[in-house]
Amino acid sequence: MKVVRSIKEMQEISNDLKKVGKSIGFVPTMGFLHEGHLSLVRRAKEENDIVVVSIFVNPLQFGPKEDFNSYPRDEERDLNLLRDLADFVFIPEAKEMYPEGYSTYVEVENLTTNLCGRFRPGHFKGVTTVVLKLFNIVKPTRAYFGKKDYQQFRVIERMALDLNLEIEVVPCEIVREKNGLAMSSRNVYLTKDEFEETSIIYKALSYGKELIEEENIRDPKVVIDKIKEIIQSAKSLKKIDYIQIVEPITLQDVDKIESPVVILFAGYFGNARLIDNVEVNL
Ligand code: PAJ
Repeated sequence: MKVVRSIKEMQEISNDLKKVGKSIGFVPTMGFLHEGHLSLVRRAKEENDIVVVSIFVNPLQFGPKEDFNSYPRDEERDLNLLRDLADFVFIPEAKEMYPEGYSTYVEVENLTTNLCGRFRPGHFKGVTTVVLKLFNIVKPTRAYFGKKDYQQFRVIERMALDLNLEIEVVPCEIVREKNGLAMSSRNVYLTKDEFEETSIIYKALSYGKELIEEENIRDPKVVIDKIKEIIQSAKSLKKIDYIQIVEPITLQDVDKIESPVVILFAGYFGNARLIDNVEVNL
């Protein structure tokens, strides 16, 4: 495993690999790795000749009141976790990614206005901008994204389609803690008691899925109200940003559930903003 910190060097490595016909599997991350990230890396290793993981806490995707400064970081630990899995770990510096005079941004419309887009203005613009830059540096054959960040996955998929990127965007299943909480670097913000209470999120979403799939409830409001009631029973719940039922590709809310949908939650337990979702098959 080689650590690469310069953009130019990463580009040269990728160019050389492509020249000899190697496929490159890429997993972009913000580090503080957990099993969720590692599941993506393992999948990339299975499906490609070479695996590149990037670690970059991207300032562009954090709002002014968000946790950029306190976002957990531990490069040494991350590198140890990647030792037997990744061929290259790309760790660029913010000043090389966004030098003085930097002026170019990528914005995916429509998909970014709903859900987290309503609560984190500019967030997805920051994500798509950094991901396109990383794609141009790493030149992957396939790029792996977790469905934990369902909206992010759909936004990147759309960007790749719209901009004719010759990159396969691969969605990966959500990895959960034993209590059902979706793994996230931000889970370290939770106290032990808060952590235990977060099990309610996946329980409530799964119950919503059951109401649709087994009880044939078709009114999204009925399902959302039930989920809300369950989640609100948690003492450490600080605020619900949203509970929504949307169409999987357009991410628009549905009036009636008659084809596959996704139920998504975002909200605060203690100081941690948590997101989760379940896919509903019909
Ligand atoms: P980060 O939150 O570090 O996540 C990196 C990748 O790991 C994302 O594709 C995310 O969906 C996936 N992931 C995180 N937790 C997961 C879990 N519990 N199960 C499955 N996959 C999981 O997402 C970002 O970083 C950034 O926005 C990034 C794409 C790197 C751009 O800066």
